Amino acid sequence: MSWEIDCASSCPFLAERSPAFDFPVGQVRRVASGGEDSDVDETRRNILKLAGVGALVLAGGGLGAAALQYSVPPTIGLTSYPKVALVDVSGKPLTVDAAMAEYNVGTSDLFIFDYPLRNEPNFFLNLNTVDSQRPTSSNPGAWMVPGGIGPNGSIVGYSAICQHLGCPAPAIAYYPPGTCPRTFAGGTLPFYIHCSCHGSTYDVTHSAANLTGPAVLPLPQVTLEQDSSGNIYATGLTGPPVNGHLNSLQGDYGVGSTSQLSRETPVILCSFPS
Ligand code: FES
Repeated sequence: MSWEIDCASSCPFLAERSPAFDFPVGQVRRVASGGEDSDVDETRRNILKLAGVGALVLAGGGLGAAALQYSVPPTIGLTSYPKVALVDVSGKPLTVDAAMAEYNVGTSDLFIFDYPLRNEPNFFLNLNTVDSQRPTSSNPGAWMVPGGIGPNGSIVGYSAICQHLGCPAPAIAYYPPGTCPRTFAGGTLPFYIHCSCHGSTYDVTHSAANLTGPAVLPLPQVTLEQDSSGNIYATGLTGPPVNGHLNSLQGDYGVGSTSQLSRETPVILCSFPS
């Protein structure tokens, strides 16, 4: 028996090299399955493929960025306090004269305006009673209150969002004189701001300082100004940030160049937690 093999035709490592495999380093040449050399430049094809994939990645990145833009809410707000003209409930510019005549310390309605953002309501209060008559125990108005404007310094604005858990007006409300006089540590107060949610109370004559808890901070106070014609403007906020806002300028869009007073019926509770 002979074990010799004819290797010239059956041993691949000895078989003659096919010219189909002669090509420059870096170039991939495909041998067509049909037996013919198709002479396809795979390197160039792969570069084109990579360019296509890159374009898809870039397009995908753009779409991803767009999707991210709409899935993560942008921080909205203002960069500084605007000067906003106040407008009365009938749509006319709010003047000191109108405030003295129509909005006074004894009103049983709430007058609310938004500032500086659309979701930041504030009380508009005129703590003046009878013009030319200073407050007395029988005439419990308040003149020359901190930050007050008008002839007697009695027109003020305070945030209408409670500093405890954020109950807004009318749950937090201004209590006019005679509603339910109440004794606090400093004595009996004829009028104040009270929150019916959990009982916090604020002193309207002293920058809305906190009188009773559970809130511990005062209400932010709106800086009011008047021009030579007596028109009233809101120009800033002092005190702590509006409750629920990282700062009082962020969390909604600004109110624009004017803000109109709205009239609301307060929630008045005269049974206070002890
Ligand atoms: S939210 Fe006003 S007292 Fe709690």
